[in-house]
Amino acid sequence: MPDTMKAYHFDAFNDELASLRLREDPVPSPGPGQVVVRMRATSLNYRDLLAAWGQLPGIKPGLIPLSDGAGVVVAVGASVYRVKLGDRVVAAFNQTWISGRPELEFMRDMLGGPVDGVLAQYVLLDQQGLERLPDSLSFEEGATLPCAAVTAWSSLHCGRPLLGGQTVLVQGSGGVSIFALQLAKSFGCRVIATTSSDEKGERLRKLGADAVVNYAQTPEWGAAVRELTGWRGVDRVVEVGGPGTLEQSIACTAFNAQIALVGFVGGLGAQINPRLLMRGGLATHSIAVGSRADLARLLAAIEASQLRPVIDRVFAFSQAADAYRYLQGRGHFGKVVISVD
Ligand SMILES: NC(=O)c1ccc[n+]([C@@H]2O[C@H](COP(=O)([O-])OP(=O)(O)OC[C@H]3O[C@@H](n4cnc5c(N)ncnc54)[C@H](OP(=O)(O)O)[C@@H]3O)[C@@H](O)[C@H]2O)c1
Repeated sequence: MPDTMKAYHFDAFNDELASLRLREDPVPSPGPGQVVVRMRATSLNYRDLLAAWGQLPGIKPGLIPLSDGAGVVVAVGASVYRVKLGDRVVAAFNQTWISGRPELEFMRDMLGGPVDGVLAQYVLLDQQGLERLPDSLSFEEGATLPCAAVTAWSSLHCGRPLLGGQTVLVQGSGGVSIFALQLAKSFGCRVIATTSSDEKGERLRKLGADAVVNYAQTPEWGAAVRELTGWRGVDRVVEVGGPGTLEQSIACTAFNAQIALVGFVGGLGAQINPRLLMRGGLATHSIAVGSRADLARLLAAIEASQLRPVIDRVFAFSQAADAYRYLQGRGHFGKVVISVD
């Protein structure tokens, strides 16, 4: 292994991405229970924009960004038994949440903020914070999974079971939503998708969406979605829009529906009438990505269903700032990847 490596750091946080700097750092060496992973690919999530803008709690200048990465184990410390040299692995989003329900203390251990992330050639991780990458997935595909796909998985599994034949609403064509569409179809559900673009709508249909509503052209899209269900409503919503979309999401739900509260890509400005939450049997669940066990179950399900992550574009390591700008522009469909050469 070389003595030094290239790693990106945020020297400060601002809107310009000018403080994302490539530095020459020492290659880490593993202590007991730790491994060094030669990263081969990483992917971006909306939260990485929040980190760049300084809006992610607990982050400090010097942060190595990005939570999602896949690579090869190139060094192992004493007492490592979960992986071995040469294993292809993917890092878990939350390094200490192994299984069960989320606890506040686990939220300190999210890669890419507040903990240093994976936008580096070599990354030191605890053996407990990894899963093996199935042979059927490339490093680029594996790197799309830890945040977006696990969040989609959790959104479909939270609360009451999601049954085949039920209807799921997914919003937009970002990373979480496309994984939610693909997973829900693999579970035998009917999927209605919203998007702001007719061209993306066609692509959502090709991926399996049974119906698509353009939320930009139809501001009261809740009624349009309801109509598509014969006015019964949807059984589950994967809510990534936030306060600006929640009223419409509630408006399209069936009795005893569940809404997975995931994100706020539509902004935080709007207010909703709390009375709407009293709709018949409605359950809401706030989602915090998921545990390593959720990642393991997702990987097994992806292998069994042969689901292929949708990668919009792969940027070279030297073009990391361009990848951020591309995600910010919202032209993407699915995941934006940075390869690590
Ligand atoms: N709670 C958690 O555990 C968790 C985990 C992961 C992500 N998140 C959150 O989930 C959200 C999505 O993350 P992501 O990484 O998938 O984002 P992303 O890939 O950046 O998704 C952006 C897409 O969202 C869609 N969108 C924007 N405004 C919308 C609106 N008003 N209504 C419907 N769709 C809208 C657009 O799709 P179109 O171009 O098709 O319109 C846009 O391309 C973010 O807020 C993120 O912070 C939360």
